[in-house]
Amino acid sequence: MRTRDQMLSELRANAPIIAPSMLKCDFGNLHRELQLLDDAGAALMHLDVMDGHFVPNLSYGPMVIERMRNLTRTAFDAHLMISDPARYLDEYIRVGCEAITVHLEAVADPVSLLRQIRRHNVVAGLAVNPATPFQQVEHLLTECDLFLVMSVQPGFGGQRFIPEVVSKIRDARSVAGQNLIISVDGGIGKSSITACAQAGCDVFVAGSSVFDQPCYSAAIAELRQLAMDAQAVR
Ligand code: DX5
Ligand code: ZN
Repeated sequence: MRTRDQMLSELRANAPIIAPSMLKCDFGNLHRELQLLDDAGAALMHLDVMDGHFVPNLSYGPMVIERMRNLTRTAFDAHLMISDPARYLDEYIRVGCEAITVHLEAVADPVSLLRQIRRHNVVAGLAVNPATPFQQVEHLLTECDLFLVMSVQPGFGGQRFIPEVVSKIRDARSVAGQNLIISVDGGIGKSSITACAQAGCDVFVAGSSVFDQPCYSAAIAELRQLAMDAQAVR
C-alpha cells in the first residue's frame, strides 16, 4: 500500500487523471472490469460508497473493496457518501484505500477528521455538494490534500453536469495554489471536461463517459487528451 507522500507524488505525476467511477462498472464482472481499466492505464480508481442515508442510494462497502484490492495494484480513492464517516474510517484504511474522501455535509468536525485521515498516512479528501458555497470550505483547504467538487447531486451516476460548480474549482485553485489536488465528480464527459480543466482541475471522475463506451482505453485517452489540451491554454 502506498504512503500518503507516494500517493500524492503519483497523483501529481499522472495529472490530468481520468478516475473511473466504479459505481458504473459491471459488478458481475469486477475482475474483468478492473483488468480492462488497468490495461487502459487508469491511474486512480474512484470507489463510490453510499449508505442509503446520506444519499438516497446504496452501493458497496469495505468487504467488496477488500476483494477489489486483491485484483489490482492501481490506487484507490474511497468517496464516502455516508453519514458519520469517522465511525467507519478504520475499515476503509484497513482494506487498502490510499485516499479517503469525506463529505463536508456529513461531518460535524471536518478538521479533526481530515487530520485523523492524514495521521493514518492516507490522502485526505474533502468533498462538497453542488449547493455548498465555496465560502464554507475555503478555510479547510489547507487541511485536505484533495478537494472534490461535486458537479451533480451525489447518489447516482448518469446525471447532467451542473456548470455553476466550475467557479468553485477556479476559486479553490486561486486560493490554494498548485499544491492542492482538485477533482470534479459527476457528469464529466467530452462536453464538460474542458471547462473544468481550464478552471484548474487535476482529477476527473468519470462514470458513464467511460463505462458506457465500448472501449474504456479509447474513452479514457480521449478525455485525458481533452483535459491536457485545455490545461495547455490555461
Ligand atoms: C455520484 C458519484 C459519481 C458518479 C459519476 O454520486 O459520486 O462518482 O458515479 O458517474 P457519472 O460520471 O456517470 O456522473
Ligand atoms: Zn464519486
